[in-house]
Amino acid sequence: MTDLSGEATLSTAPVSRLIQLSDTHLMKDPGGKLVGIDTDQSFAAVCRLIGQQPAIDALLLTGDLAGDEAESAYTRLRERLATLGVPSFWLPGNHDAASRENTIFDEHFKRHIRFPHWDILMLNTQRLGDVAGCLAEAELIFLRAAVARSRSTQRPLLVATHHPLAPVGCRWLDDQVVRNGAEALAILAPLRERAIVISGHVHQDAAQVHAGVRCYTVPSTCVQFAPGSQQFQVDDQPPGCRLLEMYEDGRLETQILRVIDESFPVDRLSTGYA
Ligand SMILES: [Fe+2]
Repeated sequence: MTDLSGEATLSTAPVSRLIQLSDTHLMKDPGGKLVGIDTDQSFAAVCRLIGQQPAIDALLLTGDLAGDEAESAYTRLRERLATLGVPSFWLPGNHDAASRENTIFDEHFKRHIRFPHWDILMLNTQRLGDVAGCLAEAELIFLRAAVARSRSTQRPLLVATHHPLAPVGCRWLDDQVVRNGAEALAILAPLRERAIVISGHVHQDAAQVHAGVRCYTVPSTCVQFAPGSQQFQVDDQPPGCRLLEMYEDGRLETQILRVIDESFPVDRLSTGYA
């Protein structure tokens, strides 16, 4: 199990600006492809897009960082992100290494991130040997504690996971969401609009409300999956990321940013994705 630990406190302007990146799927060697897309090239294009935005306070990467668990992929990820000059925080996904030999990456795997007006909780949904997600009891304990803190401090809470907590409307992907996601949503429910959940894994933009809590997913930085699909189906949408603007009073504004000045055609003959 990849441990998340410690906290990072960041000072920002009254409106904190966060970018969510997900499912970069960098392979062992540069130029590796997923469904025909060179994942290094598409990730680099998304990073250039982020570099063109007004100042960002932090980057949050919601898992499936590496496609084949190779340390070289994490090293290239770290090097590319460093060009943006912004702290980045990472979650593991089902494709990621389950344990890390190299402590150089520890600074990215934080449990808590504190903005001036918002708290962010990182939860690990990785379950060894399973494509689907699950929140171990230890993760639920962190979630209960963060909700209790938010209730007492009135600070809004953003929770980040790799697998979504609830189905997004794609049958083949909905089998893979967090198995005990309903339990997590029940824990969050008392916070209602003061809680936000952002997730990856489904390679598409979704915005839903579950138990009064807003839940978002994000496009991948490489291949996209088709919304509403019954079985594996890729989509022509470009690589992208999510911008979140987090206000002092708990309001959140969010939008998807996509690469529109380069094209990354998918291999339509691909029939699966492990
Ligand atoms: Fe995943």
